[in-house]
Amino acid sequence: MKNDYEKTLLLIKPDGVERKTIGQIISRFEQRGLDIVALKLLQASAEQLRAHYAEHVTKDFYPEMEEYMSRGPICALVIGGVQAQSVVRTMMGATMPAQAAPGTIRGDLALNPLDGPIENLVHGSDSLESAAREISIWFPELAN
Ligand code: TYD
Ligand code: MG
Repeated sequence: MKNDYEKTLLLIKPDGVERKTIGQIISRFEQRGLDIVALKLLQASAEQLRAHYAEHVTKDFYPEMEEYMSRGPICALVIGGVQAQSVVRTMMGATMPAQAAPGTIRGDLALNPLDGPIENLVHGSDSLESAAREISIWFPELAN
């Protein structure tokens, strides 16, 4: 539905926290008129990451990604607004930073190191179903 209010999950990954980009990433969503519905800084557990990345957990790249995602704190947010799920995804840009368009978070702020995992600063839910599932992983206290 075109004008439905949606809630989606955003993670600012350890590289985003390390590089002190939390403020500018959150500013982009606020500038767009989206709501910061919930926000926390936390250390991701292996159990949370396996649940969050259930679709990727059996893939070759998963162990390296789990190490990356747990090497320091992450910032988890619930972002709300009209069509928030797709708007947030559009604002993130392509998965591979080198392919992410200028103007997007990844396209403006990220570039992969030469070796190691894809370091692309942010995660955003890829559907409303994913958003509900992922919000319950990172914000179980918001469950209704
Ligand atoms: P994916 O859900 O495909 O991308 P997105 O984050 O844009 O939704 O993949 C999840 C994460 O897994 C991605 O951000 C980086 C990592 N990844 C790899 O490390 N290698 C890969 O080949 C793929 C497809 C993803
Ligand atoms: Mg994804």
